[in-house]
Amino acid sequence: MRRKLAAGNWKMNGTGANLSELADLASPENIDVLICPPAPLVSRAAQANAKIAIGGQDCHTAQNGAHTGDVSAAMLADAGATYVLTGHSERRTDHGERNAIVAAKTAAAWDQNLIAVICIGETLAQREVGETLAVIADQLTHSTPNAATGGNTVIAYEPVWAIGTGLIPTLEQIEEVHDFIRAELANRFGTETAESMRLLYGGSVKPSNAEYIFATSNVDGALVGGASLKASDFNGIISALSLA
Ligand code: PGA
Repeated sequence: MRRKLAAGNWKMNGTGANLSELADLASPENIDVLICPPAPLVSRAAQANAKIAIGGQDCHTAQNGAHTGDVSAAMLADAGATYVLTGHSERRTDHGERNAIVAAKTAAAWDQNLIAVICIGETLAQREVGETLAVIADQLTHSTPNAATGGNTVIAYEPVWAIGTGLIPTLEQIEEVHDFIRAELANRFGTETAESMRLLYGGSVKPSNAEYIFATSNVDGALVGGASLKASDFNGIISALSLA
């Protein structure tokens, strides 16, 4: 059985004052709850609520070295993180991260026993010309190294056009992509591994639409940006996932 995962991505939001939100998060027994705060907060966040997991939002491909401003998986693990996002669309756009870099970052995360949440998703232009599944297949294949397992990898499907916009795909569109991802994983890694890997949906998930999204097949949780910043919002999503 795949354990459901409610993952929050604070992006470049929050200072020490916001850590009090973590203490107020619900942690139902039947799901995992994860918050990925900005790197300077990881260490304090890891002390704030023993029942929730903490993750980084990115890591370098190397564990140390002359890379000013970057953070390594070793540093995240040392600070108390157990997860890290790789290949978020904002990294792909803002920092030009290509699939090969995402795969190398994912491998660096595994080296430190971090669970990688590999993010993939099409732009609106790609969807409009019917390229969604081809883009997903390409990103999934080339961002995921061969040693992926259900234990070390989570896949997050985040349509770029749904992130921070309030737009969400129809249930049929989410289902089509999630079923496709599961089938692609089965082709490459075998059914057992594919069935053990959690698939998250991300993009404008809110307490008001969470129940609807979690009713979709092959959706094992959500990666949530804006609605993860306040415990009162994220708790609505956590509760919907716990009940799904
Ligand atoms: P959003 O962000 O929930 O604010 O749309 C999702 C994400 O980028 O992970």
